[in-house]
Amino acid sequence: MKLDYLLLEQIDAVALIRLNRPLSLNALCAELAAELAGVLDRLEQDRSVRAVVLTGTDTVFAAGADIMAMRNRNYIDVYTSDFVTVDWERLASFRKPVIAAVAGYALGGGCEMALMCDFIIAAESARFGQPEIKLGTIPGAGGSQRLAHFIGKAKAMDMVLTGRTLDAHEAERCGLVSRVVSDAALLNEALRVAARIAGYSGPVAMMAKEAVNGAFETTLSEGVRQERRLFHSTFAIEDQKEGMAAFAEKREPQFMHR
Ligand code: CAA
Repeated sequence: MKLDYLLLEQIDAVALIRLNRPLSLNALCAELAAELAGVLDRLEQDRSVRAVVLTGTDTVFAAGADIMAMRNRNYIDVYTSDFVTVDWERLASFRKPVIAAVAGYALGGGCEMALMCDFIIAAESARFGQPEIKLGTIPGAGGSQRLAHFIGKAKAMDMVLTGRTLDAHEAERCGLVSRVVSDAALLNEALRVAARIAGYSGPVAMMAKEAVNGAFETTLSEGVRQERRLFHSTFAIEDQKEGMAAFAEKREPQFMHR
């Protein structure tokens, strides 16, 4: 698969996707979104991949949707083509664990793309923001909704209405990112965490992700019911038998991902 806007490599069971449009600060154009969707389709089917790291360059994650490409588009065009839905939403429906490793700006669509990942590891240099209001528009790739769900109304409103950026530590304090590391350590840390996840049972990690995501889609009682059913399903998986046998026998489990 020839890629113009992404770099893709695999380290054992971890796929590393790098956004690679540095001259435009990784501005997210339709072609990049299409490549990302195509890569995710492939990785979802590839049984040798059990976790993904999505990152940018050393200095920028993504400065948002490509303003130059969208500035002259009109309503009927963006509405009928369902702009920032097709391809963009693929990340949100991806079923394997994805970690966003963010250094530098994650703005607008870049912040929204990081929010579609399962969790974010931030470098000290990371800056998160939804500056669309400065452009006379609003977040369109789920930012207003995911921020409100993940960090609450006060911070979401603050970000969306003022367009200000959060530094890595403010983002960690409000729960937008799971941990902050030095810029030098970012990629290794994200790959280390992804490798740890990939070392567990692949299907069980997918179920764990599905269970947590249920919390944002449904009521508490329905979410608990879904979790219970997924928990029960793990009992049909060889890896659950192996995990518990290994504990009882005081040895490391050998997960077979089935
Ligand atoms: N779209 C297209 N090009 C962009 C871009 C974007 N979102 N962000 C940066 N670029 C381009 C710049 O035009 C510039 O190109 P040239 O060298 O050809 O002039 C290059 O990247 C470098 O950018 P700057 O010179 O501006 O770099 P800086 O370090 O001075 O500033 C920045 C960095 C603060 C991130 C600034 O580039 C900026 O504010 N970018 C726009 C951020 C933004 O508004 N994002 C939201 C977009 S709308 C959206 O995402 C909608 C949605 O919800 C889906």
